[in-house]
Amino acid sequence: MQMKAVNLNEPNSVYVQDVPIAVKKDDSEVLIKVKALGICGSDIGAYKGTNPLVTYPRIIGHEIGGEVLEVAENDRGIKVGDKVIVEPYIPCYKCYPCSIGRTNCCVDLKVLGVHVDGGMTEYFSHPLNLVSKVPENMEWKHVAMIEPLTIALHSIHRPRVIAGEHVLLIGAGPIGLLAAQVANVYGATPIVMDLVDERLELAKTLGVKHTINITKENAVETIRKITNGRMVEVVVEASGAKAAIQSVIDYVSFAGRIALVGWPNSEIPLPTAMITKKELNIVGSRTSVGEFKEATELIYDKKINVDPLISKVVTLDEVPSVLQQIAEHPDKFMKVVAVL
Ligand SMILES: NC(=O)c1ccc[n+]([C@@H]2O[C@H](COP(=O)([O-])OP(=O)(O)OC[C@H]3O[C@@H](n4cnc5c(N)ncnc54)[C@H](O)[C@@H]3O)[C@@H](O)[C@H]2O)c1
Ligand SMILES: [Zn+2]
Ligand SMILES: [Zn+2]
Repeated sequence: MQMKAVNLNEPNSVYVQDVPIAVKKDDSEVLIKVKALGICGSDIGAYKGTNPLVTYPRIIGHEIGGEVLEVAENDRGIKVGDKVIVEPYIPCYKCYPCSIGRTNCCVDLKVLGVHVDGGMTEYFSHPLNLVSKVPENMEWKHVAMIEPLTIALHSIHRPRVIAGEHVLLIGAGPIGLLAAQVANVYGATPIVMDLVDERLELAKTLGVKHTINITKENAVETIRKITNGRMVEVVVEASGAKAAIQSVIDYVSFAGRIALVGWPNSEIPLPTAMITKKELNIVGSRTSVGEFKEATELIYDKKINVDPLISKVVTLDEVPSVLQQIAEHPDKFMKVVAVL
């Protein structure tokens, strides 16, 4: 038996192809009929050949929701017919970070669609312990937004944002705009920075009071005004742009915290004397860990508004052409979701 899969034969060559149908390896896995898929910036990187971690040929896709087709009896209450979301990072469970529960930064982490084949397929088999239930009546396009929201949640959890603080989000892409909404939910005040006015307008419609277009204003001065001279307690860098990363220390307060989420194309030097002088905490924020339940509830309870971030809903067959369109015009798309 065969199923359709979105396969990258090599960079810039993507097709929906027939591949052998997914089967459950053993009872540690659950077989899912895929219903919802998100297209992520990293899928575009894999398509363009700019992600050095991706090997080819590769079935892409790590933002995957679906319906359980086959599952062994289990103590997690997951049954045939349940709606589920996939946690797409497979850890080794043996290394130091795994031993302290930080499986997201496992030394041998296997991310779906990057190191191993992903879920842009009609059927998918995945470890049962990395699958969680979502509410019966949750819309599939919303299920596709859960994984990106876990990334955003992690970027707010890592620097331990608390109510009353100012959080600067650099980059008004899906991650930055989701994290800005999380900051609001937590009672903090988000400030969103980008180069593109339309993205900053969108931030405003999502409840962000302060936005900064870095090409049009002096960001340091604007932040000083908004924070009454203090500068922001927390910066979340979610653009990956070299210029943005190099400026994080200018925007943060003394004794502040910085979370680096964006993936830069190359290593970026930072002024270490200022890190010492301001006594900063700088943390990396990679994927997510233990954040799927909270992300599911935030979307389901409409505390985070994901609809304005979904630029387009397509079918599985349309994924190759939309990947090409996003690669050519990244500014025209926020998040594209496939519903099967
Ligand atoms: N750490 C992780 O686990 C993880 C997971 C997912 C994505 N990411 C990374 O997070 C970043 C954001 O992801 P996304 O999907 O929202 O990306 P995106 O490309 O949609 O958004 C990036 C935004 O940054 C803006 N930008 C570019 N240069 C800028 C600058 N100099 N100053 C301010 N804004 C600038 C762009 O206009 C865009 O709106 C990417 O670098 C992505 O690779 C990291
Ligand atoms: Zn993603
Ligand atoms: Zn590990």
